[in-house]
Amino acid sequence: MAKKPLVISTTRGVTFSQQAGQTLLDASIASQFPVPHSCHSAKCRQCIVTVAEGTTHKFRDENLTPGELASGCILACARTATSDLLIEAGELVHKNIPPVVNIPAMVSAIKRLSSELILVTLQLPMSARFHHLAGQHVAVTNSDGIRRNYSMCDASPQDGHIRILIRKHETGLMSRYWFEYAAQGDLLTLEGPSGRFGENIARYNRPLFIAEKEGIAPLLALKASVNTTGLPLFWLGAGKGEVYNAGSEFDGLAESHIQCFADFSETSMQAMQNTLIKETDCSSVDAVYVCGSAAFLKQIKALLKREPFRGLPVHTEVFIPSGPR
Ligand code: FES
Repeated sequence: MAKKPLVISTTRGVTFSQQAGQTLLDASIASQFPVPHSCHSAKCRQCIVTVAEGTTHKFRDENLTPGELASGCILACARTATSDLLIEAGELVHKNIPPVVNIPAMVSAIKRLSSELILVTLQLPMSARFHHLAGQHVAVTNSDGIRRNYSMCDASPQDGHIRILIRKHETGLMSRYWFEYAAQGDLLTLEGPSGRFGENIARYNRPLFIAEKEGIAPLLALKASVNTTGLPLFWLGAGKGEVYNAGSEFDGLAESHIQCFADFSETSMQAMQNTLIKETDCSSVDAVYVCGSAAFLKQIKALLKREPFRGLPVHTEVFIPSGPR
């Protein structure tokens, strides 16, 4: 029978598995979260990590001092785990985090999903090397010099286009631009992508997504990047018409796949919890992704401390509503 992979967790929350025959370093590289490294032969010391819990086997000499060895330091390229491990390895960065670029973009479509919500499609230059991970955002600057961050709604650029969702804010300068005088053909500047909200999404099989208002955008991208058939996307603070119109814009997101609640009052939260328990196979949910205002996140976190979601990894992204900055 094939040996079960060992689970390697880091004190900063990254988890990966070590297959039979892999070094610790190889396992981290295969997981997309590489421990810093160079020589692969226990010389450069770049792959030094500290074992907090668990056991390892050393298969080559390590360039470490007696003091380092005594405090639990090892070289990941010289060891293989012999049990599940907890290691201190600093901040491990996903190796696919795309580079930040500064490029022009043109407004190619503005579609009203409601009087309060628009979907904007931006065309990128043919030569642009713009890639993003699902859940990342981009800074948009218009010709008046007003700059705002927007999450992209798709898992990756579609035919050289990205899409962003914009909600109307009465006092927002950029909101005024989008809702009053933005037009097809307008030239903007993009800087990005940024953000690490979704970098761990591949670790999960059945994440649950909960959004408030325009917090839906990164979650649409994350939902599109994983197979979560049957799990609804919970959207609080959206209008009924917005749910219908957004559903028609995003592949595989029929109206029935979005559960909408008017706000995030205690009554709505209770209704959402009941729906979660009644209509979701909670036992197989393995993580929760939430995007919304700070107040919303606080309330959701309190809700997720209750059964049956207590103990699940919760990934959050806070958005700051556009204002007259
Ligand atoms: S990669 Fe150089 S010591 Fe491990």
